[in-house]
Amino acid sequence: MINPVPVDSAGDDPVRVGLVGVGIIAETHLAVLAERGDVELEFAVDPRPVGPVDFRGTTPPHYGDLAQALDTHRPDLVVLATPTETHAELAAQALLRSKAMVLVEKPLVHDLAALAGLRELDGKADVRGRLFTAHHFAFSPEVGWAAELIAANPDWGPVTLVTSAFYDPYVLRGAEAFASYVSSWTDSGVNQLSMLTRFVELTDLTDVRQTDGGASAWCTVGFRSRGEVGTARLLSSWLTGSSSKESSLLFGRSGVEVWIDHTAMTGFAARGSELLATFGNDGRTPRKVAHYRPLYASLLSGRPDPVLGFDAAATITGIHGAVPEVR
Ligand SMILES: NC(=O)c1ccc[n+]([C@@H]2O[C@H](COP(=O)([O-])OP(=O)(O)OC[C@H]3O[C@@H](n4cnc5c(N)ncnc54)[C@H](O)[C@@H]3O)[C@@H](O)[C@H]2O)c1
Repeated sequence: MINPVPVDSAGDDPVRVGLVGVGIIAETHLAVLAERGDVELEFAVDPRPVGPVDFRGTTPPHYGDLAQALDTHRPDLVVLATPTETHAELAAQALLRSKAMVLVEKPLVHDLAALAGLRELDGKADVRGRLFTAHHFAFSPEVGWAAELIAANPDWGPVTLVTSAFYDPYVLRGAEAFASYVSSWTDSGVNQLSMLTRFVELTDLTDVRQTDGGASAWCTVGFRSRGEVGTARLLSSWLTGSSSKESSLLFGRSGVEVWIDHTAMTGFAARGSELLATFGNDGRTPRKVAHYRPLYASLLSGRPDPVLGFDAAATITGIHGAVPEVR
């Protein structure tokens, strides 16, 4: 159970947000936050000489580091959209030097030692009540559709096999991709795992093979579904020029298969030659906005979805972080 958070977006006062890291994903955070009348951007932080951040036609103060910003401002929410390996240290700083909620981009941490470091802050800061991870894939529309469909059809039996392939076009970004995202497993594995928590209870990492210097990975993960055990086969890779992400959930007992396309945000369910259900969208909402809009709605509701909370991040990190780094 996540404690109530110190943000009341239903109140009159706007939620004052500090954005740390003004890179690629920060654009989506800014776009979604700007839609919300209950939010103001209090400051932005980035050591790079990035252009002024525009937030609904205004430019908030900009700082070169988070400590400087927190000396001057009292944000309600600090958003960390920085390279993965900086998350743990910046999260600790935000927790100890402010009273704000802290939303950290996924993955929460880059290794298990960093997770232990954050856990040790409990007592000094309300880690469970204030620290959240942007497990945005769990909010993707096709994932929500499939989870509801499966919950409504208990006669399909347990999920017995999941196959998921996430491709990102990072091969041409070379060293820059490794600097921001560490490896394909570090970057995509956490999305695959957080997406899977909508369907099954993850138990353990059962096999790992990282190739292409960390640009590709094949991992298998055990899970429980409706009282039985199953296996998830997770492939991720940067060796492509285009993004493509798909997952299939097989219900071995009934022969039902649920196929979800995370790139198109579509899905269907079939049994043999019979089409059971389909899901599409009106094509108006960009994919990342479709993830972060419901994520922020949940975070700022006062009752954040447990998938954003520290316990979910710890479970996911336990499996995710068990894969050795390749570098
Ligand atoms: N790009 C995506 O589609 C995407 C999607 C979801 C999550 N993420 C996650 O978001 C994080 C950032 O990814 P990105 O693609 O935006 O990377 P990026 O490299 O484009 O941006 C990161 C920014 O953080 C800045 N930065 C570095 N150290 C900092 C510090 N100490 N304080 C403040 N700013 C600092 C950098 O200068 C850069 O501008 C990663 O953890 C990634 O896994 C990215």
